[in-house]
Amino acid sequence: MISKNISRIGILTGGGDAPGLNAVIRAVVKVAIQEYGLSVVGFLNGFSGLINNQSRELKESDVIGILPRGGTILGTTNRDNPFHFPMEKNGNIEYVDVSDRIHKNLKDLRIDALIIVGGDGTLAIAKKLHDSGIKLIGVPKTIDNDIYSTDQTFGFDTALTTATEAIDKLHTTAESHHRVMVLEVMGRNAGWIALSAGIAGGADVILIPEIPYNIELVVEKITQRTKQDKQFSIVVVAEGAAPIHGSVTIQRLVKDSFEPVRLGGISNKIAGEIEAITGKETRVTILGHLQRGGSPTPYDRILATRYGAAAINFLMAGKLGHMVCLNGTEIKAIMLDKVVGGQRRIPLDLELLNTARQLGISLGQKKTVID
Ligand code: F6P
Repeated sequence: MISKNISRIGILTGGGDAPGLNAVIRAVVKVAIQEYGLSVVGFLNGFSGLINNQSRELKESDVIGILPRGGTILGTTNRDNPFHFPMEKNGNIEYVDVSDRIHKNLKDLRIDALIIVGGDGTLAIAKKLHDSGIKLIGVPKTIDNDIYSTDQTFGFDTALTTATEAIDKLHTTAESHHRVMVLEVMGRNAGWIALSAGIAGGADVILIPEIPYNIELVVEKITQRTKQDKQFSIVVVAEGAAPIHGSVTIQRLVKDSFEPVRLGGISNKIAGEIEAITGKETRVTILGHLQRGGSPTPYDRILATRYGAAAINFLMAGKLGHMVCLNGTEIKAIMLDKVVGGQRRIPLDLELLNTARQLGISLGQKKTVID
């Protein structure tokens, strides 16, 4: 049954960007207009636009040519949580709930429902907005691929491609100089980029947040390769990896962000230890935001387009307070309650982890093959 109560919708992109956001926006605009005759408004810079009433009409002409473009034409931010919004009072900053402004802005703009595209922080806010009475549906996004209840987020495949290309390039220089190259990739809580790029790029060591590593076992792998006359090694480490009995490496704290802790720099620690113990020249590359940029891969364009189209279809079918997700090969909708608070980390019995072990890749732990 098609909802008759929705004739005008809003869309926003929140949190860190990911390649494919524009493909979602394009699909939403096209399907909303062509299939359902809706009008579409784009809110600028995530929740900031919703709180401060900054928006623009999105017509089909506005989405021409954006499919292959990285970033988001609407802008984004990982600040401006409407339920914890910084306001100055008598020279001090106080955090207040400004969600009533959102209700007012939506009413003034005659918007009946929202599509909110974002990661776990953005989706947690979406759930609260839905609980406060706003009709909406979420679309999962992050290069880290760690959103609970979906088999894949768009943006991951592009980041994986970038990281794999980096490993390929590091290989040739590592081999020429007989060096150890340590590549740090994103992945705050989950090591999907590190594991997948490490396998695709033929890394010798892969360190992920899910498996605390033992530096002695990392060094053992490099020494073993040297003995086999393999004079170079490639180590891929996720930014969220930590040593056993140690903690993650924090780069900085970002005030007012949904996720205030910014990780980064674990690769420097690992490289220093490798060089000190083995005496082998070691270099570090931190790939950083390169992984978030660039044109989305065909896989990400298709997934993002499917998510965008499905978001409108589910919204019009009355599936409110849901998030679109990939379940096997099918796009489905799942209640936001089931998504928020969870995390999609690498299961320790994942076949790909076992494959890595069987290939002789060190995961920084004792080699135990799980059947
Ligand atoms: O969530 C994706 C992610 O890329 C993380 O891996 C990384 O820690 C974080 O975003 C960095 O966010 P930013 O630098 O945009 O604040």
